[in-house]
Amino acid sequence: MQTTLKERGKVENSREFINKKEPLVDRENRKTVGQQIVDDPRMSCKNVNVYYGDKHAIHDVTLDIARNEVIAMIGPSGCGKSTFLRCLNRMNDTIDFCHVTGAILLDGKNIYDKDVDVVPLRAQVGMVFQKPNPFPKSIYENVAYGPKIHGLVQTKAETDEIVETSLKKAGLWEEVKDRLNQPGTSLSGGQQQRLCIARTIAVGPEVILMDEPCSALDPIATARIEDLIDELRENFSIAIVTHSMQQASRVSQRTAYFHLGDLIEVGSTDQVFLNPLHQLTEDYVTGRFG
Ligand SMILES: Nc1ncnc2c1ncn2[C@@H]1O[C@H](COP(=O)(O)OP(=O)(O)OP(=O)(O)O)[C@@H](O)[C@H]1O
Ligand SMILES: [Mg+2]
Repeated sequence: MQTTLKERGKVENSREFINKKEPLVDRENRKTVGQQIVDDPRMSCKNVNVYYGDKHAIHDVTLDIARNEVIAMIGPSGCGKSTFLRCLNRMNDTIDFCHVTGAILLDGKNIYDKDVDVVPLRAQVGMVFQKPNPFPKSIYENVAYGPKIHGLVQTKAETDEIVETSLKKAGLWEEVKDRLNQPGTSLSGGQQQRLCIARTIAVGPEVILMDEPCSALDPIATARIEDLIDELRENFSIAIVTHSMQQASRVSQRTAYFHLGDLIEVGSTDQVFLNPLHQLTEDYVTGRFG
């Protein structure tokens, strides 16, 4: 979504027009504005708070993630994007002094309920990290490992099939089909990231979390991953943290803006970037802050 200065001017004018009717929310007011709730959500976060010891890192965030959408999470460094993302598959459980309150429903079931096993949960809500992190195994084994430990495959033929399908969905098959036994680490950075996406897809997730998945990649590898994210939306919900507003504009349908642990605003990506409702969002998206 590229906007010219002229278009930006039109938007500024329309924003002024709106502001005359309805003043912007006070800069200090941190109550979330925008469309937090959607019909028939895939995930539903209700009054989520996160504490690292005494430090209150996420303040009472309520936010739905729709089916087949890419939602971008943006905001200045340290505002809590990664912390919030990690709540969605209980990755924060791995930090001893981290404490999460509130509820996060996946298809209506609270993932923080005592009877939830985090191993299958993290297959249902998979994660792709900033730095590609293939296992020290072959390309084939990187993808086959998850389905094997989750009992999704019994035979070699089934495993072969899931490896091929996952690599195809991750847009990597053609590049690696003749070298499946080579180490995952022998691939380029962009290929390694697509391998990690294939590994995530292989265990049949419903949601894929991505924390700055392109920040270690060059523009061509980034474009490849962005195209892939758009294709994956057909089958999955994707929550992506990014520092690049251009990337958020290109890949997401909704954007959530975080500031100092508060969810300030959420809405359609076009609206958040072109016509933000909150002063803090406007300051960030126009480059005055952050
Ligand atoms: N393991 C941890 N222990 C203690 N505090 C933490 C931990 N991880 C994050 N924090 C704190 O929680 C707040 C939110 O951090 P978080 O990493 O979620 O921010 P972020 O928005 O992802 O930032 P960045 O854009 O730099 O990645 C920060 O104040 C950070 O210092
Ligand atoms: Mg982060």
